[in-house]
Amino acid sequence: MEDFLSQTPKINKYSNKKRLAAVAAIVVVVGALAVFYSWDSSIRNEQVLIDIELEKAEFDEFLDRFGKNYKDEEEYIKRFNIFRTNSAYIRVQNTMLTTWTMAINMFADMTHDEFASSYLGTKVNFKPRIETEFPKIKIPSSVDWRTSSKVTPVKNQGQCGSCWAFSAAAAIESAVAIKGKGLYSLSQQQLVDCSSSYGNGGCDGGWMNYAFDYVINKGLTKESNYPYTGVVGLCNTANESNSPTKISTYVNVKASDSTQLLNAIAITPVVVGVDATNWGYYSTGIISSSTCGTSVNHGVVVVGYNQSSKYYIVKNSWGTLWGESGYIKVKIESGAGACGIQLYPSYPVA
Ligand SMILES: *[C@@H]1O[C@H](CO)[C@@H](O)[C@H](O)[C@H]1NC(C)=O
Ligand SMILES: *[C@@H]1O[C@H](CO)[C@@H](O)[C@H](O)[C@H]1NC(C)=O
Repeated sequence: MEDFLSQTPKINKYSNKKRLAAVAAIVVVVGALAVFYSWDSSIRNEQVLIDIELEKAEFDEFLDRFGKNYKDEEEYIKRFNIFRTNSAYIRVQNTMLTTWTMAINMFADMTHDEFASSYLGTKVNFKPRIETEFPKIKIPSSVDWRTSSKVTPVKNQGQCGSCWAFSAAAAIESAVAIKGKGLYSLSQQQLVDCSSSYGNGGCDGGWMNYAFDYVINKGLTKESNYPYTGVVGLCNTANESNSPTKISTYVNVKASDSTQLLNAIAITPVVVGVDATNWGYYSTGIISSSTCGTSVNHGVVVVGYNQSSKYYIVKNSWGTLWGESGYIKVKIESGAGACGIQLYPSYPVA
């Protein structure tokens, strides 16, 4: 016991020395680390602040460019955060896409669900299609109905699922112009307000052939007689019957066959249903089946093609700030085609 007791302080002395040294060493290391980390994290914090400042500048530029206004600060912050997510998504996608690119546009402050519910909107017609098959004929290597002034300027459906009305009206406008009756704009609002008994749902989607069925019976007045509001209203029968343009019928082009669709486009612009799920941030280039599905949810018009570069020229209804001045190029492929473009082609006969 004695020995042990008498030895204890010795050990303690020795170990205290050791402990002191260890503690001193730890203090030095921790201190150095603390200095290092506080320096590093202040740099990192600074970097985060710089990034947010850049994103905010990018967002403010976006707000100016697309004339956006939010009701309050809460909405501003909500939209800013959605915008940050979308702009990061666009940057990442652009490192992987090879034939087309995305860009920030008017949809960059919307979630994908908001975009899909406001800007897409076809109710696919599952009734059996009576199709027309074209004989093998020689068609031009490229067609662009815009160059002969047979296509009206690109329009904007706004936040209303009325793509079906815009594409149907656009195809009729072109058919009338090709027939030599002049190029003039027709009323989408009339279709939105007046064709629900034909199966259309106003701003909640519709189908181009239902619009054609309606126009065969009632005709379609000029846009100036029944201007677009972007919301469903009561059918104004006075405006509806104001010198309407009629079509005699429409033709369903044989589906899932690019030769047949090219044949039809050589005659007149053709309405098609497409899967536009990925189209929101399209900026330029040719979209193909590798980045586009075939679940048809949007109606557009094909106004030309280029066989040597293998693309269709497609007129959309999201305004001229979207895509290639309102247009998108879709690759000519076999079967259903890129974005399902060959699944439901049809055209009106003026
Ligand atoms: C639409 O019809 C109403 C009558 O219901 C008429 O007063 C109005 O001028 C017409 N609108 C246009 C743009 O022609
Ligand atoms: C079609 O594509 C080819 C090959 O890229 C190009 O040389 C030609 O100019 C295009 N035609 C038209 C009408 O744009």
